[in-house]
Amino acid sequence: MKSYYITTPIYYVNARPHLGHAYSTIVADTLKRFHRMLGENARMQTGTDEHGDKIVKAATAAGVSPQAFVDDIAGVFRDLWPRLGIENDGFIRTTDPAHKKAVQVLLQRLYDKGDIYFGEYGGHYCYGCERFYTEKELENGLCPQHQTKPEYISEKNYFFKMSKYQDALRQHILDNPDFIRPERYRNEVLAMLEGGVLEDLCISRPKSRLTWGIELPFDKDYVSYVWFDALANYITALGWPENENDESGAYKTFWPGEHLVAKDILKPHGIFWPTMLMAAGLPLYRHLNVHGYWLVKDTKMSKSLGNVVDPLKAAEHFGLDAFRYFLLREMNFGSDASYSPEAIITRVNADLANDLGNLFSRVLSMNAKYFGGKIPALGEQLEADDILSEATDNGAANFVQLFGELRFSQALDALWTPIRAMNKYVDEQAPWALAKKGETERLGTVIRTLLENMYKVAYLLWPVMPGASAAMQAQLGRPQPPLSEDALNDVLRYRMHLRTGMEIASASNLFPRLEMEKEEAPAKPKKEKKAAPKEAPKEEAAPEAKAPIEFADFQKLDLRVGHILSAKQHPNADKLLCFEVDLGEEKPRQIVSGIAAHFKPEELAGRKVVVVANLPPRKLRGVESQGMILTAEFGDSLALLSADAPAGSSIA
Ligand code: ME8
Ligand code: MG
Repeated sequence: MKSYYITTPIYYVNARPHLGHAYSTIVADTLKRFHRMLGENARMQTGTDEHGDKIVKAATAAGVSPQAFVDDIAGVFRDLWPRLGIENDGFIRTTDPAHKKAVQVLLQRLYDKGDIYFGEYGGHYCYGCERFYTEKELENGLCPQHQTKPEYISEKNYFFKMSKYQDALRQHILDNPDFIRPERYRNEVLAMLEGGVLEDLCISRPKSRLTWGIELPFDKDYVSYVWFDALANYITALGWPENENDESGAYKTFWPGEHLVAKDILKPHGIFWPTMLMAAGLPLYRHLNVHGYWLVKDTKMSKSLGNVVDPLKAAEHFGLDAFRYFLLREMNFGSDASYSPEAIITRVNADLANDLGNLFSRVLSMNAKYFGGKIPALGEQLEADDILSEATDNGAANFVQLFGELRFSQALDALWTPIRAMNKYVDEQAPWALAKKGETERLGTVIRTLLENMYKVAYLLWPVMPGASAAMQAQLGRPQPPLSEDALNDVLRYRMHLRTGMEIASASNLFPRLEMEKEEAPAKPKKEKKAAPKEAPKEEAAPEAKAPIEFADFQKLDLRVGHILSAKQHPNADKLLCFEVDLGEEKPRQIVSGIAAHFKPEELAGRKVVVVANLPPRKLRGVESQGMILTAEFGDSLALLSADAPAGSSIA
């Protein structure tokens, strides 16, 4: 069985966990679940970083001993994770005796090899970062992370010969293009390696200055530098070094693994850690996966700035699954994202309450009303049914691919394509009209088609929303099957999974709408009356009006006039056309649009259209689309929106 090992940073226990920590840990949990869904032996590891000046300072401020202090906060972290739906397989503390012993073995190994030497060093020391900065790295004499003035410290210390491994690391990064990803972070690390000779890493602190650390095995007057100690956790948590050569031990099973960090700790993970592994003669990690920051009003959320959000309160307030969904959907992995209650409410109402929740609620209550809650048989299928199932198949395949590439936001968006298509299908097929006309077989086919497609989506959402996914699967009468590669392939490959005649849930209210409240007051989920089975919704006629949005949300749209330079059939999808569109930028954009049923490519070259220019790029059947062309629908027809203005003109 293939194994998969994902780690989070081990967090400093100088303050309580906030949303930034929760994000990394939730992402790691979804990745572990996703890999379990792929049938892999997946393990997820988190923990706490408990040594160093920072912790001593915090303990002193709290008036307790360092040990009492770290025991307390480590407990807060450990107890938080299960409450956020996180199933970590291990929780490592750097004060664990086994970890301390292992770090000493690592230090001794490097020392015996001659990769650690004693020397004198002076540098600008930032207590916040627990590291020395060179003159060059400071910004106007201040620490670039904390904007505080570092202290100049000169003392005798032990150094790790990092420079010795500089070329080997550079070569490794060049040979393995996704070793550090996304690419911008790889480039940052390469720039550090190419900017001159790396400084050797000071890996000790004299006990005269700091005693709260792991004693160097070769000099009792020194303790280990906190980062040297902390980075080793990724293997000591697997039982290294005891089981270094034990084929069935956790170390051999799971290492090399995957790391997940934010960009604040790129250098220790991109440079210190791989060179330490090289020196120890151990394999390097598979990938360093780097994400951006959660911002609050354009500023990094951080304990030192005091603008932190309590993740548990947010999860309890908005619903755990909704909170997890928001975090994965809102942040484009690698870039920064903004957190605000308004952003969550908007996202949850649009995607979960309106799209997904409403779909489950209306289809299940129609099934209750028309079929007494029993799954109807599939009769003859029409083209519309097939188009819907194909959209789901595509959405599901795209989801799996994008999720594996850590493009969580795009992956979820890909899954929402069929969800929206299902709602549209309900409007178009109008089951209530079929019922009125007594077309029971067709009505059954429509409902069954919906239920089957809903099942696929519900199954795939498990890594992100484990609770809601299980609930949706149960509502459809199929409890979560054991996770395996075969189960996933079955779900992806086949269109029928449910049992004809089985009685299923007659109502669903998984994602209540959240209300925006004035000022800072947190929003409460609105308690909706559970739709009683016999009170199915009123006959629906016209497509429902969408919920009102904020003007500020409308302003987020970048709508522009585009000039179609060329148009051709998509190489592997009948319904799609591929365009080159001039938006007044340096290069024309490639845009894929599902309008092949309505237009011939040759009719469209030269036309002016309206384009949504700031959607994230996504792949449609293998071709990347960098925007969306707007159309108007009437009956079975489509018209292109157009504007008589030069390419690139913005529309407001
Ligand atoms: O650096 N947005 O611990 P730390 C996104 N102990 N993620 C954030 C964030 C934000 N605003 N703020 C924090 C340390 N994080 C070391 C790590 S590892 C061997 C040692 C998350 O408590 C993100 O994962 O400062 C970031 O890398 C980490 O918390 C830093 O946690
Ligand atoms: Mg930090």
